[in-house]
Amino acid sequence: TLVLLWLGIFILYFLVKLQRPKNFPPGPVPLPLFGNLLQFDSENPLKELDRLSRRYGSVFSVYLGGRPVVVLTGQEVIREALVTHGAEFAGRANHTMISHITAGKGLIMVDYSTRWRDHRRFTLTTLRNFGLGKQSMEERILEEAKHVCTSLEQHAGNSMNPQHLFHHAASNIICSLIFGSRFDYEDKYFQTLINSIEEFIKLMLGPWAMIYDIAPALRFLPLPFRSSFHHYELLKEHIRKVVAEHKRSQVAGEPRDLIDSYLEEMEKRAEGSSFDDANLVILLIDLFIAGTDTTSNTLRTLTLYLMTHTHIQEHCQQEIDMVLGSREHVSYEDRHAMPYVQAVIHEAQRVGDVVPLSVFHTTTANTQIRGYSIPKGTLIVPYLSSALREKDQWKFPDEFNPQNFLNDKGEFVKPDAFIPFSAGPRVCLGEGLARMELFLILVTILRRFRLVWPEDGGVPDHSLIFGMTQSARPYRLGIRSRT
Ligand code: HEM
Repeated sequence: TLVLLWLGIFILYFLVKLQRPKNFPPGPVPLPLFGNLLQFDSENPLKELDRLSRRYGSVFSVYLGGRPVVVLTGQEVIREALVTHGAEFAGRANHTMISHITAGKGLIMVDYSTRWRDHRRFTLTTLRNFGLGKQSMEERILEEAKHVCTSLEQHAGNSMNPQHLFHHAASNIICSLIFGSRFDYEDKYFQTLINSIEEFIKLMLGPWAMIYDIAPALRFLPLPFRSSFHHYELLKEHIRKVVAEHKRSQVAGEPRDLIDSYLEEMEKRAEGSSFDDANLVILLIDLFIAGTDTTSNTLRTLTLYLMTHTHIQEHCQQEIDMVLGSREHVSYEDRHAMPYVQAVIHEAQRVGDVVPLSVFHTTTANTQIRGYSIPKGTLIVPYLSSALREKDQWKFPDEFNPQNFLNDKGEFVKPDAFIPFSAGPRVCLGEGLARMELFLILVTILRRFRLVWPEDGGVPDHSLIFGMTQSARPYRLGIRSRT
């Protein structure tokens, strides 16, 4: 009888807890403990989100465990929330495992606050000073593009899996930006660092992070999330050493990289400001985490589609050859004369759909959207891929077609539904950097190589592997020198 009584209380507790607040966005009935989790296919949960949005409309809610989450679909609603009501939708969720690991510092997961705003402003300004629009950032990316081509040259006439190469190149650009130097791709230490980032991300996005969130006391047991802490510690240790070295060698007024700039900012600000050593370390790790998979997965999608759509690849090469002629290097300014290449890059971002659910937001105040009431602290999922595939927003929503970004005169145009970097106050901080990387690296590769689908490559598969950052399935890149 006692067991039945407890079970009854338990179920009643969840049923009461799982009552949607008054005038909350509608959605499916949740189960105790799991909420609506069981109705999502782990291989492709996006299909279920599409189904729910057809049933309940562009704003609906689901329960992740005991927590209600509001899903925003379609570019209009996403922009209305993230841009028109920007400040009210700019919070971040309080994720127990991340808070324990980062001690609430850094940038990506920091709540909407003065500390977040100061760090975001500082990082954006510093990135710009290092050459978004100026020469030095461009030179750093072009140098990396040269190394990418040297590696590809070794496989000319053959094929290779480009995953590590693009990943290392994207990491190296972040290294150059924050440490002032790059690593050799074969460098064992570099590989250990990259491995730590990859393992950390894998664990953070897996089920163990969710279990930790529900029962943080489990952290004392030898379970897999201990490994997340271990990998994060390795990264912190490395970065602390580099920061110490920078402190020894920095020259006032001559910042070499983001670390030097941050150290100068620390000096300028009064003691007790949020600019301190601990925040610097987590900020740098955040930039690695945010800037590596995203860019390298996009490059992989690009080369996959160019191999399987040879007429599009040839069109790009004609445009590149015509604009650059015998000039040695491409420059970022050249993009204005290359509307077709621009369209191809944007189209690859659209179909590659790298961050389908953005980074989850929370509401910072009680607010309203489309007549629904959303209390402060509610988890918000901007379902970015719904906009990237929205039927009435694109000429060819379901195929890879650069015409989606070209008008009748062949000029490059960017539809409002193109929001792979999200929108509003929390829009991707690395958008400018990522755009520059994609353009310079792609043009450098296509000038030197023809990309071909290898004879033994099987049937091309363009489907994506679902994740918080999605990617194309592994494939081999066939490389031929263009003479
Ligand atoms: C945040 C996409 C490259 C740094 C984000 C968000 C998305 C995104 C969707 C979440 C925005 C939101 O919360 O609404 C992408 C894509 C990239 C890319 C598609 C490449 C193709 C980069 C790069 C960097 C970077 C290269 C490195 C500098 C960040 C940071 C944030 C962020 C720091 C957190 C911003 C904040 O919370 O204020 N990115 N990103 N990203 N991204 Fe990117």
